[in-house]
Amino acid sequence: MSQAEHAFPATILVVDDHEANRELMEELLAGRGFKVITAADGAAALREFSRTQPDLVLLDVVMPHLNGFQVCARIKANQETRLTPVILITALSARQDRVAGIEAGADDFLTRPIDQTELLARVTSLLKLKAHTDELERAESVLFALARSIEGKDPYTQGHCERLSQYACRLGERLGLSQDQVTALHRAGIVHDVGKVAVPDAVLLKPARLTEEEWKVMREHPVVGERICAPLKSFRLVLPIIRHHHEKLDGSGYPDGLKGEAIPITARVLQVVDVYDALTTVRPYKGALSTSDAVETMGKEVAKGWWDGAIVGAFKSLITTPEPVQTRSARAGVH
Ligand SMILES: [Fe+2]
Repeated sequence: MSQAEHAFPATILVVDDHEANRELMEELLAGRGFKVITAADGAAALREFSRTQPDLVLLDVVMPHLNGFQVCARIKANQETRLTPVILITALSARQDRVAGIEAGADDFLTRPIDQTELLARVTSLLKLKAHTDELERAESVLFALARSIEGKDPYTQGHCERLSQYACRLGERLGLSQDQVTALHRAGIVHDVGKVAVPDAVLLKPARLTEEEWKVMREHPVVGERICAPLKSFRLVLPIIRHHHEKLDGSGYPDGLKGEAIPITARVLQVVDVYDALTTVRPYKGALSTSDAVETMGKEVAKGWWDGAIVGAFKSLITTPEPVQTRSARAGVH
């Protein structure tokens, strides 16, 4: 993508302790229409980074105090900024530097002396990727905001999505699911009920049990939610969780009446956490159960053939022996 294709000029942070190098790059990049910010050392780089939130960073490795690896590692350790591309500028043939750069999370490398054509090609290609990531993140944020606004309608389910998201991730990790599945659980925890946007408030907020007719409307929400999220490619693994989070192992759930392992494991994980949260929070038509009563109830429902006994067992051990707060999903910066 050429600079001309950007709606706004992309901002590039150039970090180098040699003034001549900074000036050279600034001239080159500004001449191509980029907005250029410069910093002369690592500490200044981090300050400028948080002040200007650049779209890309060109980072010299050898600098006094905080070097390029350390600056890069800090940018990449932060959930909010980890997707900002960083190009490290290393000495020619410095293999060690490349290894350290990869470990610090650098997206690309340039070697001195810098080839201007190569610099522009790398900058352009990483900015293209960044624009794409930004677009996806915006779409995700809209979905999350919609899901939270639905949750916000009902004072009885306040905080439900966040709790669900956290518990589902921890349970997924405990069961040895892949990082992609754990990420999907995190997202599904937030958006699984987004389809309730199509349920009228009179039904959604009814302070009593629903009639059969009202249940019919309510039971549509997994399918509606799946349809709302379907256009997002990054939600590929989230869709089956949304669709199947109300299935039951014996086939008596909805919308498809799936049985046993035909229900995706991620959906089985979310539903266990969802059921627990529903049992342990107050609703207009019922009080909150204690943890032990909720676990007992879930045990009975496993015996009835509703939930996956192994997953309920793992969940029980999770809530009775809590893990440290810093879970793998948090370390990996899932959001
Ligand atoms: Fe639901």
